[in-house]
Amino acid sequence: MRNKITVVGAGNVGANCALRIAEKDLADVVLVDVVEGVPQGKGLDLLESGPVQGYDVTITGSNDYAPTANSDIVIITAGFPRKPGMSRDDLLMANYEIVRSATEESVKFSPNSILILVTNPLDAMAQAALWVSKFNKERVVGMAGVLDSARFRTFIAQELGVSVDNVTAVVLGGHGDTMVPVVRLSNVSGIPLTELMDQPTIDRIVDRTRNGGAEIVKYLKTGSAYYAPSAAAVEMAESILRDKKKVLPCAAYLEGEYGINGLFVGVPCKLGARGIEKIYELKLTAEEQAGLQKSAAAVQELVDVLKSKR
Ligand code: NAI
Ligand code: 2OP
Repeated sequence: MRNKITVVGAGNVGANCALRIAEKDLADVVLVDVVEGVPQGKGLDLLESGPVQGYDVTITGSNDYAPTANSDIVIITAGFPRKPGMSRDDLLMANYEIVRSATEESVKFSPNSILILVTNPLDAMAQAALWVSKFNKERVVGMAGVLDSARFRTFIAQELGVSVDNVTAVVLGGHGDTMVPVVRLSNVSGIPLTELMDQPTIDRIVDRTRNGGAEIVKYLKTGSAYYAPSAAAVEMAESILRDKKKVLPCAAYLEGEYGINGLFVGVPCKLGARGIEKIYELKLTAEEQAGLQKSAAAVQELVDVLKSKR
């Protein structure tokens, strides 16, 4: 029997997730969106690419969750971007409502699924999904670190004129400008970055990584990135469905790891059939640890708002 993935939100990230899942022949896909016709239309269009692209998976669209029943994975991308006049807290509460209903409906029909959160603010939305689903923490994971480290890897490869394949980059922390690109643990085929670039260049790349999302928004003006984000979410889904046990930076619910308790923060995780199968606790320098604490504090602030208003 084929695997099944539900993608909630048939917007830019969601539709591209569906496309990437199909092109990997990874699973049948159900796209769900509140806008009538959009998930159906995009689903059919994607299905009709199958004969050309050579994939056999089924892609359907729906405005309700009944067709999502028994999904192995649910990727939640539904949500608003920040609109003019909207505070960060307004966006937080608006997207909380969306993620709350998406999670509630998804787990009703797919009680054994694994949830991959994409909606922003990512770490807080993962926390909301954990509360609402009441799943164990291994089955709720947030996508951010794969994207942030892909950006870091891209900029390093670009700077040095080397293949991205050879670049390993570690990014920890929440998905925001307090994220912690860990230069000490990033390398090109094992060669430390510090041997390859001077400090001002490293600083520039680290800064560009932290602002990678904003850089794309500045170009697009009316939306945010979706090609790299969808690639990142689907890499996580693939590692889970194919039990590849890839070690990827993910937002995971920490209970004491890195001195952080009761909060989703980006850390290296082993992703396999059971979801988050292991969290790797790195030995950080005092400076790196301080950066991570600062980033966790920024996530905590949002979670506190959610707790006070939900
Ligand atoms: P988009 O605006 O293109 O798509 C969002 C879709 O969600 C729309 O089609 C909308 O109709 C749908 N939607 C709204 N409420 C819904 C509900 N209750 N149920 C089902 N669908 C609903 O936005 P895009 O670019 O796809 O981004 C989606 C979210 O992902 C945003 O919150 C964005 O900030 C976030 N994001 C997060 C990233 C990360 O690294 N974690 C990277 C990129 C985007
Ligand atoms: C990004 O980093 C908007 O979170 C999104 O591109």
